[in-house]
Amino acid sequence: MNKQNSGNTKPAKFINTNLKQRTLILLKPDAVKRGITGEIIDRFEQTGLKIVGAKLIKADRGVAQKHYKKDAAWHKKVGEYNLKDCEDLDVDPMEIFGTTDPTEIGSQVNEWLFSMFDEGPVFAFVFEGPNAVKKVRTLVGSTYPDAAPPGTIRGDYGLDSAVMSMQKKRALLNLIHASGTVEEAQEEISIWFSSEELLDYRRADEDVYHY
Ligand code: PPS
Repeated sequence: MNKQNSGNTKPAKFINTNLKQRTLILLKPDAVKRGITGEIIDRFEQTGLKIVGAKLIKADRGVAQKHYKKDAAWHKKVGEYNLKDCEDLDVDPMEIFGTTDPTEIGSQVNEWLFSMFDEGPVFAFVFEGPNAVKKVRTLVGSTYPDAAPPGTIRGDYGLDSAVMSMQKKRALLNLIHASGTVEEAQEEISIWFSSEELLDYRRADEDVYHY
């Protein structure tokens, strides 16, 4: 038996080879207005992930529409989530959305997302490091702050819920957006940053980890 493949060593497919993976983090207007951006960013920096881009920006509708350009499949999925929440909470979807069609409901939620950026500036960041996308998403926690566990950003700093979002007809106040996949990260970073705005330097951790 090949000793290297026995015992506790991880199979090769789990070994991360992209040490400079990048991900987009947006601290949404609710986080900026609450003055907790420093605390939130601290949590990511402490992991060893490196900030390679940062800016405070008042996004216009064009940027919002590029960032949250969702297709019919997404509308249907999000509409179904909202319909399920209505059912669980005994709320009449007709009263909130004027329809029970999931795709139409998802499209209304999509509009709420575009409007969210009208509320104030966002603090946009690109973080870089091994498995940055997954690491950041794990720290961010569940979409719904009321269901996000302690230790996650949304669990520790948020309390908004599906019912509050629906009753107020506005996007969830969940503080933060983080890219869901490596491909999404590449696309989203190009919406918010030019290549000149992303800087290369070394952090002390890189010497500790020898990468
Ligand atoms: S999910 O869990 O699959 O629905 O998440 P995702 O595909 O990332 O898209 C959900 C985004 O929409 C924002 N949002 C809402 N989702 C569902 N219901 C309501 N009412 C709602 N309001 C806002 C949610 O925060 C996700 O956006 P980001 O920017 O990723 O947080």
